[in-house]
Amino acid sequence: MAQNKKILDLRNIYTYFYTESGVVEALDGVSFDVNYGEPVGIVGESGCGKTVTAHSTLRILPKNGKTVAGEIIYKGVNLLDLPDLQMRRIRGKEIAMIFQDPMTSLNPIFKISDQMTEVIALHRKCNKKEALEIAIETLDLVGISEAEKRITDYPHQFSGGMRQRILIARALALQPSLLIADEPTTALDVTIQAQVLEIIKEMQKKLGLAMMLITHNLGVVAETTKRVHIFYGGRVVESGPTEEIFLDPKHPYTYALFESIPSLEKDKTRLETIPGNVPRLINPPKGCRFHPRCKYATEVCSRVRPPEFKFGKGRRVACHHFEELDLHIDMEAIRESRKAIKEEA
Ligand SMILES: Nc1ncnc2c1ncn2[C@@H]1O[C@H](COP(=O)(O)OP(=O)(O)O)[C@@H](O)[C@H]1O
Ligand code: SF4
Ligand SMILES: [Mg+2]
Repeated sequence: MAQNKKILDLRNIYTYFYTESGVVEALDGVSFDVNYGEPVGIVGESGCGKTVTAHSTLRILPKNGKTVAGEIIYKGVNLLDLPDLQMRRIRGKEIAMIFQDPMTSLNPIFKISDQMTEVIALHRKCNKKEALEIAIETLDLVGISEAEKRITDYPHQFSGGMRQRILIARALALQPSLLIADEPTTALDVTIQAQVLEIIKEMQKKLGLAMMLITHNLGVVAETTKRVHIFYGGRVVESGPTEEIFLDPKHPYTYALFESIPSLEKDKTRLETIPGNVPRLINPPKGCRFHPRCKYATEVCSRVRPPEFKFGKGRRVACHHFEELDLHIDMEAIRESRKAIKEEA
């Protein structure tokens, strides 16, 4: 039965990039799933494989990138086996993606109506007039006022936040089953990040969408998702219900991420960072990829890849020592700092 709950199931994905300096092992055995109608968070620092995971799923990797092993099961079908033509039908209609930068996803020389109706008519199999109606309706839904008038405007006539709303509308108008949002608010002013996020959250709920929300912001994950997969160095290091992971993280990296949330008592303008750098994925660290930065690392960590331990209700953690560690999060401090960030915004 559990099998039927999953809309997307990534099984042991390896994605590599072939560069002049060597092979970048961007995804090194990534496994996780998303259930029907479920908002799931993908979290980790920059460069840990979040975007590559999304691009591998949609098969939109650049020419030098390839998913060399694993299965990406979407509604029971392995996307990696699909012919290009069928894969094209999956993109947009089945799985929609919202990218980080709203400007690069809209063509500056065409009106919004042109950029929405054609794709709607194609995927929803309707005529131009019906497509226009759907477009206006969806723009209205994501909070573009006077959508009927504004739909004939050009992208530059909208603010960054409004452009991202338009892209959300364009994605949703196709009635996808799964939405992948890759850092959808990062390029926006801090004041409108919360609004756009609210729209995404509302839409996800209203339409019962499955969602993969990619972010490095833990506050966003807490407010928007039910489950979270924590990435580090091209691997999933911890997975489970969002609330449980916030209360009781088991992986030292997850813990370090929580510690890096800006704290009120300290200098407000500076983000605490985890000491050390995200690993380069050409010749990545052996054993546990986090070992050069982990304060709990022992000899075995630098040699042996940690196996994945499963426990509780759907929790997984890949750490040699997770049972011995007693990591504890001060939730009150996290809530306080989140509140402060919002108030500042
Ligand atoms: N086109 C590319 N060629 C070589 N390496 C790449 C390419 N795209 C991504 N990478 C590498 O893959 C790793 C994961 O990148 P990415 O998924 O973009 O990280 P993020 O978690 O920030 O989204 C990084 O080490 C990055 O340098
Ligand atoms: S396996 Fe070792 S290095 Fe990796 S997170 Fe656990 S304790 Fe740290
Ligand atoms: Mg990214």
